[in-house]
Amino acid sequence: MSETVAFPQDRTCPYHPPAAYEPLRQGRPLSRVTLFDGRSVWVVTGHAEARALLSDGRLSTDRENAAFPTPTKRFAGLRLRRTALLGVDDPEHNTQRRMLIPSFTLKRTADLRPRIRETVDRLIDEMVAAGPRAELVSAFALPVPSMVICALLGVPYGDHEFFEGQSRRLLRGPEAADVEDARRLLDAYLGDLVERKRREPGEGLLDELIARRLETGEIDVEELVSLAVILLVAGHETTANMISLGTFTLLRHPEQLAELRAEPELMPTAVEELMRFLSIADGMLRVATEDIEVGGVTVRADDGVVFSTSVINRDGQVFEEPDRLDWHRPSRHHLAFGFGIHQCLGQNLARAEMEIALSALFERLPGLRLAADPDRIPFKPGDTIQGMVELPVAW
Ligand code: HEM
Repeated sequence: MSETVAFPQDRTCPYHPPAAYEPLRQGRPLSRVTLFDGRSVWVVTGHAEARALLSDGRLSTDRENAAFPTPTKRFAGLRLRRTALLGVDDPEHNTQRRMLIPSFTLKRTADLRPRIRETVDRLIDEMVAAGPRAELVSAFALPVPSMVICALLGVPYGDHEFFEGQSRRLLRGPEAADVEDARRLLDAYLGDLVERKRREPGEGLLDELIARRLETGEIDVEELVSLAVILLVAGHETTANMISLGTFTLLRHPEQLAELRAEPELMPTAVEELMRFLSIADGMLRVATEDIEVGGVTVRADDGVVFSTSVINRDGQVFEEPDRLDWHRPSRHHLAFGFGIHQCLGQNLARAEMEIALSALFERLPGLRLAADPDRIPFKPGDTIQGMVELPVAW
């Protein structure tokens, strides 16, 4: 067990856990890591222990709790405003989540598939027309989920530069003041949108929530706006990173890509394996509210707890040869969408988007390849959702 590993750290290769996390792999299931402010917290790296802890009501996501861990300097900016769902515990969390579940079921997501396919095809048509080169993040990986979440929520896609830019600031700062300002601007934007929709209702999840929950007095504008912010931000940033990093990873694994091309029906399992392998949300945060015995240690009340999904999802006790990308392994029990009450609400939607986007990309652009030295293509720092900053491709 190491006392000295700093968390989080940048990846050395965009699709592997940081090399510096090696002692954490050795220290499974729990070790101590040091955050940027010098605080020592628990890092969970064992799969079984992570599942147990993520379903344990004695761990809280309440960022207003003074003992909640601060993984980066800028994260302090996130604590100044209440975050719906991800920032609240049960029973409040359960009330909020139940309002949204009907819009994210498998059936509702399946209904969206033709629309997702249409969006994906249109973007590829545009790339082909302007090709044979593109910067895939801005031309494809970001617009796909951004357009889909806009259609689902009823947010005008015409405003995408604004909300994509502010979401980027919210997740990457760099300073706490940037994060706070980004959140304030997103709140103001969605607050105005809600007021406009109250006067002129449209068709979307926000309109439904206004009619069924806001006008009935069940929630107030502040709570609705907070829900809208998390749906809008979580709905596009994460999936965009999976599409860009997923494409990069496939292009760097020609054998697995060839197999996938030969058997396109493998795509749903390939998406699951990519989720496990890439673990882009690498550092879920909690604080203990009581003492908890787990994995042979005692997590004390007020201890900070972080979950390194990239290390958890490469637990050799659960995934054989975990560092290998393999479409034939059972990978669905990965924790890349989290686990327990906060497990990703949008996972069905994200899966549909990734399957459709990656299938169409490799089917329609058979000569797709990287258009730059892979070692020089910039990827995101370790303290945010992992993904490619840009991805130059040609076909
Ligand atoms: C591949 C893309 C995605 C990944 C990797 C991802 C990952 C995650 C993870 C790890 C969590 C749990 C965080 C925690 O417990 O601390 C989470 C929660 C959440 N995700 Fe996703 N997500 C993705 C796509 C989406 C999409 C498309 C939406 C659409 C709205 C979404 C909405 C949410 C929401 C609302 C929560 C909070 C749920 C709660 O607290 O009850 N996510 N996501």
